[in-house]
Amino acid sequence: VRIVFLTNPNNPTGTLLPAGEVARLRAGLRDDVLLVLDSAYAEYVTAPGYDPGEKLVDAAGNTIMLRTFSKIFGLGGMRVGWGYASPGIIDTLNRVRGPFNVASASQAAAVAALGEPGWEAKSVAHNTEWRGRVAAALEGLGLKVWPSQTNFILIDFGTAGRSGAADAALKSRGLIVRGMSGYGLPQCLRITIGTAEECQMVIDALTAFAHD
Ligand SMILES: Cc1ncc(COP(=O)(O)O)c(C=O)c1O
Repeated sequence: VRIVFLTNPNNPTGTLLPAGEVARLRAGLRDDVLLVLDSAYAEYVTAPGYDPGEKLVDAAGNTIMLRTFSKIFGLGGMRVGWGYASPGIIDTLNRVRGPFNVASASQAAAVAALGEPGWEAKSVAHNTEWRGRVAAALEGLGLKVWPSQTNFILIDFGTAGRSGAADAALKSRGLIVRGMSGYGLPQCLRITIGTAEECQMVIDALTAFAHD
């Protein structure tokens, strides 16, 4: 093994591995194994004690943290992200990456996003509120909801048939969520937290579906 990738919080479950467990993983790996921490959803985490990777990166030269502007800043189409690692790892990446690998316009968009006053706090507050509301409402319908630290929720409908029927019921109201067959979880749907209105539409649609 040369490289171990860990997505934390994870996609598509939305679940978080506590910092102690990630540190235990690092300690259990050989020093010459690179640990890549994909912390794409870091900003949405509200659980205390989370470390997106800074501490492990600072502690040794064999871990890299990856971040993206695709999630909290909504810039997926700009293809821009960043990493934090020891100078040795960054030097190696600089030697193998393509020139101009992030377009100037994408860099400008990322800088502008960082300068937008209150954007992150506002987005996190909205996500935290509606993640809780949607999860509680769907749990109240008897559905299994995975505990999420991201901007989506994984719902387990028990069977692929039931999940497919729920997907069809959502689609009939114009709500497009993500089927999980590609992840080997055909009994699940992944629902992203949208605007308040969109979240309420999902709650209403699944409430009607559950009582059907
Ligand atoms: C865990 C994880 N990492 C990375 C990405 C994508 O990041 P980027 O758009 O920067 O390639 C996603 C979302 O698509 C994701 O779920």
